[in-house]
Amino acid sequence: MALLELRNITRRFGELRAVDDVNIAIEAGEFFTLLGPSGCGKTTLLRMIAGFDRPDAGSILLDGRDIGEMPPEKRPVHTVFQSYALFPHMTVAQNVAFPLRMAGKPAVEIATRVAEALEQVHLEELAQRYPDEVSGGQKQRVALARALVNRPRMLLLDEPLGALDAKLRERMQIELIALQREVGITFVFVTHSQPEALALSHRIAVMNDGRIEQIDTPSRLYGFPRNRFVADFIGNCNLLGATVVETTAHELTLDLRSLGRVVAPAAGNARVGQQGAFALRPEQVRITPAAAAHELRNHFVGKVHDLLYVGDVTTYVVELPGGLRLEALLANSAPGRARVFEIGETVRVAWRHDAGSFLPE
Ligand SMILES: Nc1ncnc2c1ncn2[C@@H]1O[C@H](COP(=O)(O)OP(=O)(O)O)[C@@H](O)[C@H]1O
Ligand SMILES: [Mg+2]
Repeated sequence: MALLELRNITRRFGELRAVDDVNIAIEAGEFFTLLGPSGCGKTTLLRMIAGFDRPDAGSILLDGRDIGEMPPEKRPVHTVFQSYALFPHMTVAQNVAFPLRMAGKPAVEIATRVAEALEQVHLEELAQRYPDEVSGGQKQRVALARALVNRPRMLLLDEPLGALDAKLRERMQIELIALQREVGITFVFVTHSQPEALALSHRIAVMNDGRIEQIDTPSRLYGFPRNRFVADFIGNCNLLGATVVETTAHELTLDLRSLGRVVAPAAGNARVGQQGAFALRPEQVRITPAAAAHELRNHFVGKVHDLLYVGDVTTYVVELPGGLRLEALLANSAPGRARVFEIGETVRVAWRHDAGSFLPE
C-alpha cells in the first residue's frame, strides 16, 4: 500500500482550478518531487497534504486512512520552508529542541529526542555551536534534524534551495540526496527547476496548470516524455511538426513537412494520418562533415546557422532544406577547442531509427 495517496484532488480559487483532479501515490522511503512552472499549483497541493488548506474535492489517504478531517498539527508530516529559517540566537541543539519545547514536552524527553535527531544527521559534535558557526550544508542538516524531531512519516519541502546561488545549490543537492538516503524518510519535494528535480528524485510528477502531465522516474521522463509539454519542459528538445504515414510493429514512418520522411520508434497508439510532433534530443543528433560516410537511416545535409558554446559542449543550430532548424549537441573533448564546425559550414545531421519519439497532438 502507498504511504500517501491523493485521489482526485481539486482546489478552486474562484474560477481558477489551482489543482485539478490530481492523482498521486507515494511509496514509503521515496524522494518524490512535484515539478512544474511557477503558478502550476505545487504549493497549493503541498499545503493540502500538510493540512493548511482543504481540497474542494477528492481525498487524501495516509496508510490507507482518510486524513481529510485531521488538523495539521495531528498529521504525521512536517513542512520545511524556503532557506530553512534557523534561529540565529539559539544553538544547534536549541534549534532542534524548539518544536518539542513549543509542544510542552518534558525536559528529559526533549534531551533524548534532540540527541537522537542530531545523531540521525551526524551533527552530535556541533550541538553547542550557533548557526553562524556551521557551514551551509550543516545548516541544512540542522533544519532537517528539527523537522525529524517530531518523528514525522514524511517531510514536505517547498523549494528549500530556491534562494541559493548555483554552486551552493548544487552542493546542497548532493547533501540532500545523501541525507534522505541515510534517514530513509519519505520526501515530497517541490521545485520549478528541472535539473534539480532530475538530480534529486526517485520519481517526479510534472505539473502544468493544476494538472499532472506525467509521473515517472527521471530517466523515463527524459527518454519517454508523454507529450509536448513534458518533452519541452524536461531538458532541451527538438520538436518538429510530424504526420504519421506508415506504422509497423517496430517503427513509424513520419512526414516532417518540409524535410520529408524519417523513421522513428513505434508509438503504441499512433495511427496513419495522425498529426503530432517528433521529439528528438540534441544529443541524439549526430553532426559530421557533409562528405563523411553515413550509416544511419535518418540523415540530412544542412548549414550551421548558429552555435552556442558553453564550455563542455557546443550546441549547433543546423538549418535544413525548407528552413527547418535542428539543434545538435557535441562534446568539446579536444582540449581548448570551442567548436568543430563554423557558422555557414555545410554539415550532415543524422540520428538512429530508434531515437526520438512521436507525440500525438
Ligand atoms: N489563496 C489563494 N487565493 C487565490 N489564488 C491562489 C491562492 N493560492 C494560490 N493561488 C493561485 O493558484 C495558482 C497556483 O499557485 P501555487 O500553488 O502557489 O503555485 P506554485 O507553487 O506552483 O508556484 C496560482 O495561479 C496562484 O495565483
Ligand atoms: Mg510555490
